[in-house]
Amino acid sequence: MGKIRIYNLAKELDKDSKELLDILDDLGIEVSSHMSTITDETAELVKAMYKEDDETAVEEITETETETAEEIKETENAEESDTEEVEVLDAVEIETPITVKEFAEKIDKQANNIIVELMNLGVMANVNQNLDEETLELLADELGIKIKLMSEEEEIKSMRIGPEIEDKAEDLEARPPIVTVMGHVDHGKTTLLDVIRKSRVAVAGSEAGGITQHIGAYQAEIDDKKITFIDTPGHEAFTAMRARGAQLTDIAILVVAADDGIMPQTEEAINHAKAAGIPIIVAINKIDKVNAQPERVKQELTEYGLVPEDWGGNTICVNVSALQETNIDELLEMIILVSEMEELKANPKRLAEGVVIEAELDKGRGPVATVLVKNGTLQVGETLLAGLTCGRVRAMFDEFGENIEKAGPSTAVEVLGLNDVPNAGDFVQVLEDEKKAKNVAAERQAEKRQQEIKQDAKVSLEDLYKQI
Ligand code: GTP
Ligand code: MG
Repeated sequence: MGKIRIYNLAKELDKDSKELLDILDDLGIEVSSHMSTITDETAELVKAMYKEDDETAVEEITETETETAEEIKETENAEESDTEEVEVLDAVEIETPITVKEFAEKIDKQANNIIVELMNLGVMANVNQNLDEETLELLADELGIKIKLMSEEEEIKSMRIGPEIEDKAEDLEARPPIVTVMGHVDHGKTTLLDVIRKSRVAVAGSEAGGITQHIGAYQAEIDDKKITFIDTPGHEAFTAMRARGAQLTDIAILVVAADDGIMPQTEEAINHAKAAGIPIIVAINKIDKVNAQPERVKQELTEYGLVPEDWGGNTICVNVSALQETNIDELLEMIILVSEMEELKANPKRLAEGVVIEAELDKGRGPVATVLVKNGTLQVGETLLAGLTCGRVRAMFDEFGENIEKAGPSTAVEVLGLNDVPNAGDFVQVLEDEKKAKNVAAERQAEKRQQEIKQDAKVSLEDLYKQI
């Protein structure tokens, strides 16, 4: 018997999927979300209900029900965000590195008290000693306070110049989803990305005989819909961005080899995606192998709270073979489906903002940074502030190495013209005032140097003590 996704059925009937969920609920059919599937038989039943003469009545009933459900949800959400806000307000922001003395001052306590607390935790420390993050967390627990850790370096990087501009609703346009492929070593991330690239990337202006990949990201096109794939799985930028709560990707593809199951890096990837609050689509790979056990993978996934759809949950799992190119279309379809539900939007008219996904010093071209534009449009000639460096965009290249003038939301471009090599994960922002950009970059560099001097001094002092 065939199956249909509620989301798709709603689309087919031109109805709100929430409405359909209510009807199914009335029919006593248990479903967890609009990503769940129902049998064709049930779908027919739902369709029939809409065809009935009292169609308006059905709509009326469900509408009011939807409304009340929405009301309840709204109040629930309001409550939730209230408590969240209180928590955030309560938390003391701690910039690391921090000494015992500085920490005591920050939380309005005597340094001696902190030393005693530390002793209780089995840590012997003096007032000038730096506290590591783990100890800080334990200490905060012990003292019954909430802290928010932020390393100075991260703070410098995350700094946005000027207020965060809220885009007007009428300026917002749909943007392609940014997808990161994650998973354990050798589970097939690169192979999968290559297969998608090979079959789905419209080759702009390049001759036959293979595509030369220039940057660590590319855009694939499926039925006129674009998806931006980030090619460097679990890499530095992703971790750095996540540490700051900022989001680099919209959707995570979790690749799990069916002959190997969930491994340490798979678990790590799950945690990353969960912490970022982004949807996870599982690609159970290598199903062509004789010892492939996709069902076992699904069993393992449930242990991480990822319950596959065919097991009654709402985690989308697709059995694929990257090597034999099996079910790749289905996987892409799922990515499009999930991204449509996320309703991703950006304002192409504003000054660009984004993130560095990789950067290097090129012998002939100078500092080269691959920038993922998250909002706005980046243009040649504009002044870019990227972490501790800045510069006027001299030239931009797309994934095929073609010269381009503009890069809109969700596109990755290679940028030439920065004065120095930025770090992966650095926040990137276009500024109208070139002088200001230069000043900010200089300030940040000075701050960074100060930090390094502090660190060096600390190290040499420790060495000195060791020698005594
Ligand atoms: P790292 O980048 O090292 O983390 O690995 P990866 O996840 O990118 O894996 P990669 O794509 O390099 O694949 C690892 C090995 O698995 C290669 O030998 C691939 O040919 C093989 N492989 C990938 N996908 C499949 C598949 O669907 N079936 C089979 N049988 N082998 C596959
Ligand atoms: Mg790889």
